[in-house]
Amino acid sequence: MPDRSNLSRLREASPVVLPSLLACDFGNLEREVRRLEAAGVQGLHLDVMDGCFVPNLTFGLPILEALRRLTDLPLDVHLMIVQPGRYADRFVDAGADVVTFHIEAVDDPRPLLARIRERGAGAGIALNPATPLAQIEGCLDLCDLVLAMSVPAGFGGQSFDEVALDKLRRLRDLVPAETMLEVDGGVNDRTIARCAAAGARYFVAGTAIFGHSDYAAVVRQLTELASSC
Ligand code: DX5
Ligand code: ZN
Repeated sequence: MPDRSNLSRLREASPVVLPSLLACDFGNLEREVRRLEAAGVQGLHLDVMDGCFVPNLTFGLPILEALRRLTDLPLDVHLMIVQPGRYADRFVDAGADVVTFHIEAVDDPRPLLARIRERGAGAGIALNPATPLAQIEGCLDLCDLVLAMSVPAGFGGQSFDEVALDKLRRLRDLVPAETMLEVDGGVNDRTIARCAAAGARYFVAGTAIFGHSDYAAVVRQLTELASSC
């Protein structure tokens, strides 16, 4: 069972810039983690893709287990897979502090959200830009985190879609204050302040961080921009 204090750490820290390791140097994973820790990041975002729910393949349980051994940072796992219910328990057991799955991948999200919570992790629901907010309204009471995608799930380096801003504004009025509102895709120094103004407090950034040589500087800049609203 994960250490619940990691979930509390994430909840209490705000705003939080979460590096998406999708864009990191996997040949030097430990060095990347150490550089991010030194940069003061408050958690890591892990994009799990199965080549079926999205047309891209990334990594799975062994990488998550390796990261869990490497760091105490909260691990925010974003499942972009079909049938997430088949694997969610194993991601919790491997060390995920938050497990988020896509509403488009399930018929009824409620049982799986409840199970992730029972297992001891934070439960999150994600929705793609094309998916109406109405599709998740019936499960918000079971969500520790709601992820408004600002690009279609599948790849890093895509352009920010403003449809996420409207969803975030509406979500702010629909969820309790303790629910973590996250945005993912195309988050950078030109888009992060608008996401913060719309209500996001958790900002996933891949290329914006790993495209720079000085992670500390870019994390500080993004955090400042997110705090300015
Ligand atoms: C996309 C992933 C994102 C992605 C973000 O499906 O969920 O986490 O890595 O990458 P950037 O920040 O480059 O848009
Ligand atoms: Zn993601």
